[in-house]
Amino acid sequence: MKNNEIHNLLNKLSVKDKIYQLIQLSGQFYQQDDELVTGPQQKLGIAAEAIKNAGSVLNIRGAQELINLQKRNLENSEHAIPMLFMADIINGYETIFPIPLGLGATWNPGLVKEAAAVSAHEAAVSGMHITFSPMVDLVRDPRWGRVMESTGEDSFLNGVFAQAFVEGYQGDMNPDKTIVACVKHFAGYGAPEGGREYNTVDMSERTFREYYLPAYKAALDAGAKMMMTSFNTVDGIPATANEWLNRSVLRDEWKFDGLLISDYAAVKELVDHGVAQDDKEAAALALKAGVDIDMMTSVYANNLESLVAEDEELSALLDEAVLRVLKLKNELGLFENPFRGADAEAEKRVVFSDEHRALAKQVAQESLVLLKNQNELLPLGDSVGKIALIGPYADTKSLSGMWSFSSRKEETTTLKEAFLEVFPEDELFVSSGCPMIEADFLKDSFGSYHAAESTQFDEKKELAEALAYAQEANVVVMAVGEHYLQSGEGGSRAKLTLPEVQQKLIQAIKELGKPIVGVVFSGRPLDLRIELQQFDALIEAWYPGTEGARAIVDTLTGKVNPSGRLSMSFPYEVGQVPVHYNEFSTGRPYEGSGHSKRFTSRYIDAPNKPLFPFGYGLSYADFEYSDLQLSGTQLTAESSITVSITVKNVGKYTGKETVQLYIRDLVGSVVRPVKELKGLKQVSIMTGEATTVSFELSEEMLRFHRADMLYASELGEFQVMVGRNSENLLTGSFTLAAKVES
Ligand code: NOJ
Repeated sequence: MKNNEIHNLLNKLSVKDKIYQLIQLSGQFYQQDDELVTGPQQKLGIAAEAIKNAGSVLNIRGAQELINLQKRNLENSEHAIPMLFMADIINGYETIFPIPLGLGATWNPGLVKEAAAVSAHEAAVSGMHITFSPMVDLVRDPRWGRVMESTGEDSFLNGVFAQAFVEGYQGDMNPDKTIVACVKHFAGYGAPEGGREYNTVDMSERTFREYYLPAYKAALDAGAKMMMTSFNTVDGIPATANEWLNRSVLRDEWKFDGLLISDYAAVKELVDHGVAQDDKEAAALALKAGVDIDMMTSVYANNLESLVAEDEELSALLDEAVLRVLKLKNELGLFENPFRGADAEAEKRVVFSDEHRALAKQVAQESLVLLKNQNELLPLGDSVGKIALIGPYADTKSLSGMWSFSSRKEETTTLKEAFLEVFPEDELFVSSGCPMIEADFLKDSFGSYHAAESTQFDEKKELAEALAYAQEANVVVMAVGEHYLQSGEGGSRAKLTLPEVQQKLIQAIKELGKPIVGVVFSGRPLDLRIELQQFDALIEAWYPGTEGARAIVDTLTGKVNPSGRLSMSFPYEVGQVPVHYNEFSTGRPYEGSGHSKRFTSRYIDAPNKPLFPFGYGLSYADFEYSDLQLSGTQLTAESSITVSITVKNVGKYTGKETVQLYIRDLVGSVVRPVKELKGLKQVSIMTGEATTVSFELSEEMLRFHRADMLYASELGEFQVMVGRNSENLLTGSFTLAAKVES
């Protein structure tokens, strides 16, 4: 459809028709063939007519189902405007990749782009148009359960991944293979006070702009066509009612002309926040703030008609919002082909194909982070002999995390199954040893999930079996971790330890004195202080998805050499949180201050440093860094400096190393971080070989929000650091000058 035809269509619509385009309801409203489901309708207080004509539907899946629904919609609605189908496709559709925090740990944006393209392909043939992904919220507080949906604590790295996701999902917008990316949650959702879900966010504009906003911007620069508001406040005003955020920043400064949707029920929650007296005021505030679609409330549906009758300004805003909805429908080609990629035959072929599963395995392999490997216990050699595989993750299909609603759980390989593909049955002894989590915990914390998650468990018998197996074995592999419902939305925790039942199991096994390899599954950085002592080797496995178990076995056996690196610091203990690598210089730093230790910035009962820093991860190879060279010592706006370093593999295995570049601005008009990631390069190096890795430094990399709030650099001295992780670095220095002095 041409642009002017869209305007013509808009002009033909009544106010009611326009409002319908701004309503989004969930799939449960449309599940019966002809009748509307009355239960949810009553709960939401929305008219049947509005449901029938709603412009978009969320979380409904399947090619034939969506073709039928679209047909019904086109037949029943006066203007035959196609519906948009959106869904949470977070780390895969049916082929499940590692959770986003695991994707972040690959430090491999090219691979993440491929994974997103696979998810898009599966979703497109299954009839979906838009995914509520990527979530690019910067996270520094692992108490918040949704850190599992983020790629981590660094704005540069998050920006790189944001771009990869968007390019992967949207590609060339081929209707059969791609979907639109809806970036979320705008903005600052990753910084709730105390790490408590849905809680207040409050920070300075400088911090907001410097660290939190860049990844959203990167996603839009990559072409993302849609954005979702967040539940939290931004400077005291909920994001969903925040004109400064959604109009001044998003539309005026950033020139975003795509669609803005509220998060689930966020428009109505303006009343609960106490910024709107009632639903009518909430509708006015959200529309004024630039929210186009109201997700899952009746607030727009029941109030916009009277509002626009009373206020001309709102009437113009209504048109603007509807136009954006129609434009996106047009960009997706829905007026010409309302079914777009939906194709029941292709769905059978494409979804969960062998090729997709192979990629899921590769991504899972690259997401695993080796945190400890004492005495080179790993990889397990051919002569390892008897293995005891112990723990609640030894034989479970729950390996995909909270957001994998459409995963094929039954076809997910368990660790036990993956072990049996490699090791003889008579040398493998498998026992869960204890339940995943205390039964009482389930009851209190998992709400309606509780019944589905409870299992009958004979604790004494399982423990006795586990101990007997471990006693028999040459090595024990302990598969432990959080319950998958302990992270994700609504999964905030005040403690970051493993469930107590598992801690007891580990201690009991430890007392047998056998070498132990720990494989930890979690949706967040955990406090693994104690386990670090108990385990001889330790792998962080996140929730690795459909093929994760095979990836883990490949890694344990050395078929694959681990290359994952943490994109979020693992705290020493919860009291340190938030702990992140790019902290500011304080007036009394712990190291290098003239004050006595007592009066420096530190804890008297815990270290300042995290247990594992940002960028950390071991390999079966061993890399040595040397010879940091700068091609010059003066940088200007017109010139660059090449930084190079030699990396040598001095270990016994070929391995992939992630070389990391950090910069420190020594003196600024505002306090600057002690280091900031500015680049990364992955290199594969054969044993005994060395390679030179180089980066180009440019003035652009030195910009920040200065005291005058300008985003620009300041002349002066800088340090450049290159190395294995944020704490293991070689340092050089250079000057940013107005012009090169001879
Ligand atoms: C609420 C979540 O915050 C958001 O991330 C998700 O996309 C929506 N629900 C829709 O399911």
